Amino acid sequence: MSSATDIALRHHGDVDATPGLVDLAVNVRAGTPPPWLRDELAAVDLARYPDDRAAREALAAQHGRAVEEVLPVAGAAEAFVLVARALRPRRAVVVHPQFTEPELALRAAGHAVDRVVLEPPFTLDPAVVPEDADLVIVGNPTNPTSVLHPAATLRALRRPGRTVVVDEAFADCVPGEAESLAGERGVVVIRSLTKTWGLAGLRVGYVLADADVIGALADAQPHWAVSSPALAACVACSSARARAEVEAWTHRLAADRAFLADRLSALPGLAVVHPARASFVLARLDRPRAWEPLRSKGFAVRRADTFPGLDEHWIRLAVRDTTTSSALIDALKECL
Ligand SMILES: Cc1ncc(COP(=O)(O)O)c(C=O)c1O
Repeated sequence: MSSATDIALRHHGDVDATPGLVDLAVNVRAGTPPPWLRDELAAVDLARYPDDRAAREALAAQHGRAVEEVLPVAGAAEAFVLVARALRPRRAVVVHPQFTEPELALRAAGHAVDRVVLEPPFTLDPAVVPEDADLVIVGNPTNPTSVLHPAATLRALRRPGRTVVVDEAFADCVPGEAESLAGERGVVVIRSLTKTWGLAGLRVGYVLADADVIGALADAQPHWAVSSPALAACVACSSARARAEVEAWTHRLAADRAFLADRLSALPGLAVVHPARASFVLARLDRPRAWEPLRSKGFAVRRADTFPGLDEHWIRLAVRDTTTSSALIDALKECL
């Protein structure tokens, strides 16, 4: 794979966030991992081979699932590869604009992929998904739009013989994990610990699905794919204390996001996708390629033209504290 399209699909914000710039391109929660989590990970015995039982039990308990319905993975990115390896879709559909790794993983495994490309404001009508699609992948809340689809909309995608995969990598940004299908049978839910807990370098996430699907995904996974520290993170981040920490943060995030979205919306020549529900906002600017002047002003933002359905007028901005957002607004004013 080396076409210009594939190169674009492989672009991620980490490439833009070079040292020295204010990083608004990557959506990892600022100030993470917290010291208590660092300590727990540092205490892990690295000489032993990983054993995922405690992680599976902790994640199952967190989401009210059976242990057989949980599979730890080396980041949500690995889960997409396992889905692509384990399933044999006749017609795979990816709902865009969304994170591009699911489409890339499917294609790398030899599957043709059809796109359903939503228009602003990026709400999903289940009827736009072709009836004969037997694999549908959708993000919730979606990267890069920050749109949170109602759980009922996602449930309406289910059909006999169809696998619905919901990428919930940002579900823990939403107070109470509203609209999450993590506790429900009949769908495949992919979760990540890398953003909220600052573990992008560790690679850790998990899949929640019916036991037969989990079995098939596990068969496609290399042995010991998930490291012992990553498994320890699954246990640590499932604790009541960790859940309370995240829930408190979701409310601060909502306030910081409202601050950013309100000020962005007040700028001429700029419109924010509303309502944003994740740790980032998507904006359309009359001016194309705004990421270039912002970069020269010290801000790395995510160019969004590499997402199917978007073009050079779109940028994605991580939600940070109000001081950082105010500085961004000042820089943007000079660019518009
Ligand atoms: C929507 C979405 N899903 C999944 C991932 C991958 O997550 P992980 O770091 O757990 O592989 C990302 C990373 O940016 C993402 O934005």
